[in-house]
Amino acid sequence: MVMADDAVNLSGEARAKAFALPLEDLNVADVELWRTDSVWPYFERLRNEDPVHLHPPEHHRDGAFWSVTRFNDIMAVDTDHEAFSSEPAIILDDPDEDFTLPMFIAMDPPKHDVQRKTVSPIVSPQNLETLEPLIRGRIAKTLDELPIGEPFDWVDRVSIELTTQMLATLFDFPWEDRRKLTFWSDVATAEPTSPMFTSDDPETEAKMILFECVEYFTRLWNERVNAEPKGDLISMLAHGEATRNMDRMEYLGNLILLIVGGNDTTRNTMSGSVLAMHRNPDQRAKLYADPSLIPSMVSETIRWQTPLSYMRRTAKRDVELGGKTIRKGDKVAMWYASGNRDETVIENPNAYIIDRERPRQHLSFGFGIHRCVGNRLAELQLRILWEEILQRFERIDVIGEPARVPSAFVRGYEAMQVMIPARL
Ligand code: HEM
Repeated sequence: MVMADDAVNLSGEARAKAFALPLEDLNVADVELWRTDSVWPYFERLRNEDPVHLHPPEHHRDGAFWSVTRFNDIMAVDTDHEAFSSEPAIILDDPDEDFTLPMFIAMDPPKHDVQRKTVSPIVSPQNLETLEPLIRGRIAKTLDELPIGEPFDWVDRVSIELTTQMLATLFDFPWEDRRKLTFWSDVATAEPTSPMFTSDDPETEAKMILFECVEYFTRLWNERVNAEPKGDLISMLAHGEATRNMDRMEYLGNLILLIVGGNDTTRNTMSGSVLAMHRNPDQRAKLYADPSLIPSMVSETIRWQTPLSYMRRTAKRDVELGGKTIRKGDKVAMWYASGNRDETVIENPNAYIIDRERPRQHLSFGFGIHRCVGNRLAELQLRILWEEILQRFERIDVIGEPARVPSAFVRGYEAMQVMIPARL
């Protein structure tokens, strides 16, 4: 039997509650639904009853927005950058007037295209091949140092550690300071209500921390710009024709983009893969019996996890979609998490099945001109992680419920206690 963990929420109290609400009260941007992983029946209703749905202003602190929840509608929006702009932001929050971080994920052509081209070589197939032995060595070492027969937090010991190491390598960042990268990434995506902020003015606190980040990177930039060009990202940005003259905020914006892009997403897929394997022992048995399934298991995990739940677009003109008129200037959330559960496109979408016929048929990396630059790097890290896990451990048990990130944007885990049983 296939046991998806979503099934818990799809059949229980959460489902009954979601089905009792009037349509206009289904607020899928409510952080609490994400923290408790109970958003699925809300999406099920939107997909079936109102797939292009206008939310009232009180559903988000920055006002009204549309939810697009079906796979094919999401695809239509994501691939139409003429009608749907990525400016001024790709999250529902509007940019702060005095503190905007320009980054190419939130830019339209032609600027987007030029900046994207400058950083793409870091994830070229050739560079990935060069990186593979390094990634494997680091993963092997991290796994070899894990405790056996006692509980530990997988998120901190493995997922954060490995993705942070990867970033430090991509930036050629001082090794001993690498956890700063994790911290900055967390600050950049945290909700103002997050417990990570200690003052009563979290927004100013976040800005101060990010200024520290830009100062640190400015120092690295100055070092690299005066040295010979090298293969790391900072050197690429410092020497690239399109990026050489970036102002300070634009530089910070693109760094944060790469830190967040390469960090949270892969980290949460690593944790999600362990959770999915634990909750689906039949799939785990399949994987151990046939390790050639690892690449498709990785894709299935990325679909099932959907580490970024949505991307926002802003209509550049009036557009018809699903029988509705989206007006110029309206905000549109493309809910990848919902499209990945669209039963009209993906068979049995709430189940975790590692040998699907078309495992890469998912929306988690987006589509169109902004499709994830790092998708092959993310898949590579996950593939190697599982190749190395299979060589070492019979299984990894998850103890209790993981703590989920309270965010409607980043779908992930703050902590996940696990135990690796000793081999008999
Ligand atoms: C499982 C892991 C990952 C997921 C699920 C993911 C997801 C996404 C998504 C949804 C987008 C936006 C797509 C769109 O708007 O159509 C995106 C863009 C991007 N991602 Fe990823 N990502 C992952 C890993 C990475 C890694 C490892 C890196 C960096 C090395 C990275 C760097 C970027 C960048 C730079 C963009 C902006 C692309 C553009 O605007 O042209 N991502 N990613």
